[in-house]
Amino acid sequence: METTALQQRVDTSDLELKVKSMYRDVALNPREEYHFEMGRPLAEKLGYNTNDLNNIHPASIESFAGVGYFFDLAGIKPGDKVLDLGSGSGMDAFIAALKTGRTGYVTGVDMTDEQLDKANRLVEDFNLDNITFVKGKIEQLDFDDATFDVVISNGVINLCPEKEKVFAEVARVLKPGTGRMAIADIVSERQLPENIVCNSTLWASCIGGAAQEDNYKSIIEAPGMQVVDVKRNTSYEFLSKSAKGACDKYGVKSVSLLANRVS
Ligand SMILES: C[S@@+](CC[C@H](N)C(=O)[O-])C[C@H]1O[C@@H](n2cnc3c(N)ncnc32)[C@H](O)[C@@H]1O
Repeated sequence: METTALQQRVDTSDLELKVKSMYRDVALNPREEYHFEMGRPLAEKLGYNTNDLNNIHPASIESFAGVGYFFDLAGIKPGDKVLDLGSGSGMDAFIAALKTGRTGYVTGVDMTDEQLDKANRLVEDFNLDNITFVKGKIEQLDFDDATFDVVISNGVINLCPEKEKVFAEVARVLKPGTGRMAIADIVSERQLPENIVCNSTLWASCIGGAAQEDNYKSIIEAPGMQVVDVKRNTSYEFLSKSAKGACDKYGVKSVSLLANRVS
């Protein structure tokens, strides 16, 4: 579906409020019930390395609400500059910072104040100097062209009505030729119908905004990236009945993918 058509069908300001409200709750009340799994059990199930999890702040793990594992694709090296889009309470960013070491740097961007406040508190708790969390919308990044070696993101871009803008920004801030994007996200095998796309609660739960998988790949590649690896995260599953129903009917699923920034 074209973004413009989509924007006419979804109330994007209502959507942003719903997304912020849901992920404020995820930051503040990680033990509540949501449409999706969370926390360390989810991270372990998705394939996160135990050592990595043991070496980051546990409070970042309790609010983890990602949908897949992508560090095997990202190949983050010491010295790399990494950007995490929709960094939440910071679990992936903290793991990335273990891999970049102190010669590299990780920046997380998120639009929800409570997620940012929590992530920044955890940076202070562990006295880390190679990671920062900043407020922003990932459709309009406040960084120079060709700044980053790696862009990561987990369970976020499906929440954005303007996915073309997000991937254009990713291509812009990645270093041409060597830069790469490794993400996990929700896509669908078939185009979702109006009643699901226009349900802002299902959207905020990472279902309503799932792009059809071939469209998703085209949107990534349009601004100068090439998708080189895609794998399905079969262990990721939604919890509520309405979410499960949409998944079964339309093939809504989690994938991790690697795209290289072409020169
Ligand atoms: C499903 S959570 C995932 C958080 C984190 N990546 C994780 O794995 O726990 C989605 C996050 O993306 C943020 N987000 C959603 N849309 C955004 C946008 N357009 N710009 C910036 N942040 C956004 C939300 O505030 C929320 O923290």
